[in-house]
Amino acid sequence: MKENQTQTYYGDYLEINSLLSTQKPKSLEFGKEAHDEMLFIIVHQAYELWFKQILHEIKFIKANLSGSNLTDEQLAECNLKLERIHKIQGLLLNQIDVLETMTPMDFLEFRDLLVPASGFQSVQFREIEIGLGINESQRPDTKQYNFMGRLSKEDQDRLKNISKEKSVFALVEKWLERIPFLEDGNFKFWDSYQNSVTKMLDNDKKIIEENTTLNSEQKKLQLLNLKSTQKTFNAIMDSKTHGQLKSEGKKKLSHKGVQAALFILLYRNEATMLQPFRFLQNLMTLDENFTTWRYRHAQLAKRMLGTKIGTGGSSGHKYLKATAERNQIFEDISNLTTFLLPKSERPALPQSLRDKLNYHFSRK
Ligand code: HEM
Repeated sequence: MKENQTQTYYGDYLEINSLLSTQKPKSLEFGKEAHDEMLFIIVHQAYELWFKQILHEIKFIKANLSGSNLTDEQLAECNLKLERIHKIQGLLLNQIDVLETMTPMDFLEFRDLLVPASGFQSVQFREIEIGLGINESQRPDTKQYNFMGRLSKEDQDRLKNISKEKSVFALVEKWLERIPFLEDGNFKFWDSYQNSVTKMLDNDKKIIEENTTLNSEQKKLQLLNLKSTQKTFNAIMDSKTHGQLKSEGKKKLSHKGVQAALFILLYRNEATMLQPFRFLQNLMTLDENFTTWRYRHAQLAKRMLGTKIGTGGSSGHKYLKATAERNQIFEDISNLTTFLLPKSERPALPQSLRDKLNYHFSRK
């Protein structure tokens, strides 16, 4: 790196004058400044700056995951970046508290001047969604709530180009699919896992049948519940059923990806699995934090607007609540907790595989 021969001045380096000249209340432009519009603008601008930082981290994560080989060091760096995003998401959530110091009546002072502008048109927010891997098909009623139609041609083209790139989800799926260890010599993780599940469910059945405190009606009901658990397990154990659900859009992650993710979750304490486990957890937290923000933002909209429509023309709270329920990316990984087994029921790994998964610091 070259040496800096000039003295850096704080205001120049951060372009403070330019930055501070970008808050232009519409209410001032149209005659009478609404005091709270400044807060409204600054909060939105702060969001956009943090979105920029999140995109910077996503770019880093995508670049690392794109190679044919993801080293331990790269994975550890990706984990650090995801953990940074979590902290930023905490700030994004807290900013809603600041914005809510503006009352709905104060908002009404300038709201109508903003139509049809809306967070609906935040291109960086869409870049984050698309970059992480939200599918168009999972969005709530894309015909009714087509955000693309609300964007300039230039912004539409920008998003279309990003959609052509591999998302974090797609890259994580590919990484999971190439994780070794699922087969080692005679050991086949998926066969062993299925045997363990069958044993566990047979045992559960026996416990219900032999339970003398239950009458026949209660037993019937519990056995029926067990059958539905069995059905849930079958949906991931059988690759055909899983493929069918995937083609119907009910699952996103490939069957191979599911197997590898489950392996990581079950054997998280084997040395080689520590970083991958942290990575999967970080992806789930990332998703969860966005969902929490979405619910919180939907509440904000309800508080500010009641049942009025949004400035972007959507049904407001109802639409935002639907996005919170649907727009998750790593849901298939979070849902794998359903399929975890107690440590005692996990298939035992052969020693040859454990040797590959661990390193030892022996005493001389
Ligand atoms: C008074 C405060 C706010 C209200 C009443 C509000 C209301 C709404 C409403 C009703 C929508 C749905 C689209 C529409 O019809 O306009 C929306 C979308 C959105 N808003 Fe806000 N919002 C507020 C503040 C914010 C802030 C501070 C941000 C931060 C950038 C933000 C980001 C977004 C985003 C990203 C969407 C699109 C969500 C999606 O389509 O999944 N909003 N907002």
